[in-house]
Amino acid sequence: MHILMVSSECAPLAKAGGLGDAVAGLARALGYLGHRVEVILPAYDCLHLTDPLPQPQDRPFAVHCGGRSIAVQVLDVPLDGYRCRLLAPEPAYPLFARGRIYGEPDDAERFAFFACAVSAYVHALDEGARPDILHCHDWQSGLVPVLLKEDRRAVGAHLGTNASTAGILPIPVCYTLHNIGYQGRFPADLLNWVGLRSLPERLGHWFVDHSESELINLMQGGIAAADAVNTVSPRYAWEVIHTEQGMGLQDWLQRHAFKFAGIVNGIDTRVWDPAGDPWIPVHFDLETRARKEDNRQALCRRLGLAADPRRPVVAVVSRLDWQKGVELILHGIQYALQNDAQVVLLGAALDPQIAARFESLRAQYADSPHARLVLGYDEQLAHLIYAGADLILIPSLYEPCGLTQLIAMRYGTVPIARRVGGLADTIQDANDSIAPLEARTGYLFDEPTPDALEDALGRALWLWREHPQAFDQLKCHGMRMDWSWERPARQYLELYQYARQTQGTS
Ligand code: ADP
Ligand code: GLC
Repeated sequence: MHILMVSSECAPLAKAGGLGDAVAGLARALGYLGHRVEVILPAYDCLHLTDPLPQPQDRPFAVHCGGRSIAVQVLDVPLDGYRCRLLAPEPAYPLFARGRIYGEPDDAERFAFFACAVSAYVHALDEGARPDILHCHDWQSGLVPVLLKEDRRAVGAHLGTNASTAGILPIPVCYTLHNIGYQGRFPADLLNWVGLRSLPERLGHWFVDHSESELINLMQGGIAAADAVNTVSPRYAWEVIHTEQGMGLQDWLQRHAFKFAGIVNGIDTRVWDPAGDPWIPVHFDLETRARKEDNRQALCRRLGLAADPRRPVVAVVSRLDWQKGVELILHGIQYALQNDAQVVLLGAALDPQIAARFESLRAQYADSPHARLVLGYDEQLAHLIYAGADLILIPSLYEPCGLTQLIAMRYGTVPIARRVGGLADTIQDANDSIAPLEARTGYLFDEPTPDALEDALGRALWLWREHPQAFDQLKCHGMRMDWSWERPARQYLELYQYARQTQGTS
């Protein structure tokens, strides 16, 4: 199958969080299963490229947007198992030359332009180069399914017939929601800006935001227009329909539940491999897991912490965002330190209020032999933390899937997490007597309260101290789990089939 993915992130070229990992991991897994996979990405100026940017091979194509015509070049980057196609607008229109992926005041226009460019790109493809499926990710590409549908309609109208009978084959679209906390809600004139001003009533209705009628909601439009929709774990799929985690989209998702599924992410086991990871000093696997201790010492040395074998290292590796349970993270740090653990936090905050909270804690512990807070984004240090820590804290308020717990388990680091979304789907509590012993991999708590967190973290610290062999078994259970992309990639192939068989019926 020829699969074209549309995303704002794809690791390692462009990554701000798990979306980048997920898109790259899935693309590669599908490529390894024998499919032709391309990922379309904006040509940001902050791409992590090992080689210089390639020269464009084809002539630029025109994108009509915001009342003007912008020339866009396609740059082709071959990667292991798939290719990236970078869309680069003419230099006079430097929308993606901001030194970062998100957080700009004109993000709405930036990604709406990207969606228009993708739609124009797809339409410019020769018959033989057209993909069998288009796979869009998150709000940044929510406009793409609508633009494709709308363009088909427009062409059909022009020919005085409808598109399918005119021989213009529609491309089925699969749409993945990685985080319903970010829906792409913007003032309605964005639709004029992308040239969708004359939307027929049915399509226009798709966009009207669930709570504020002056706003449009790009994710909502994408859900309606796509042929198949999914999110990144079954539990989160249930939560977003039945609880406030839907963040206003509950009814909309319920209405589209017939084409809505949950597929747990994988991790790229070539990138996240304790037996071959170039960024950790001592490699280990299940049999040689005792060598994890050397990584723990290396981590302590690197951060200037006392390498004390009587104190477990409790880690946090996270975007510091309200989603991740900021108050609970802060509480967990204090609780761990009061209970003679060491704490390592690696986190980046976009929100200045959150950044200030962690900055003051960082300063408070700057000279402590037992706690280190590193504020910023550091891929290499993240690998060392997964390899060297004993426990990892993930007290998210909601979590569509979560990759940190999957990576941590593979590196023998035991997760302590809230029983929500993908965390609930991928971690079994050590004390859950219904689960087989070998399936138990971590600690879960329900309520987003300090007491509930203390109970779970307390149980973990107790087992580490009082029953080191049982704790070691818990590590082994996690290390044995198969979190590779192979299984989820096959589930996506089934979803693509569904989209192909039902296309146009939305
Ligand atoms: P989300 O996508 O919501 O941020 P995930 O758990 O799905 O959460 O993915 C997080 C990814 O980003 C993981 O690969 C994690 O290691 C990485 N990560 C998060 N924060 C940092 C950071 N400050 N430095 C380096 N890597 C980070
Ligand atoms: C989002 C979610 C996270 C998920 C990731 C990849 O950023 O917050 O839970 O793992 O996307 O799907």
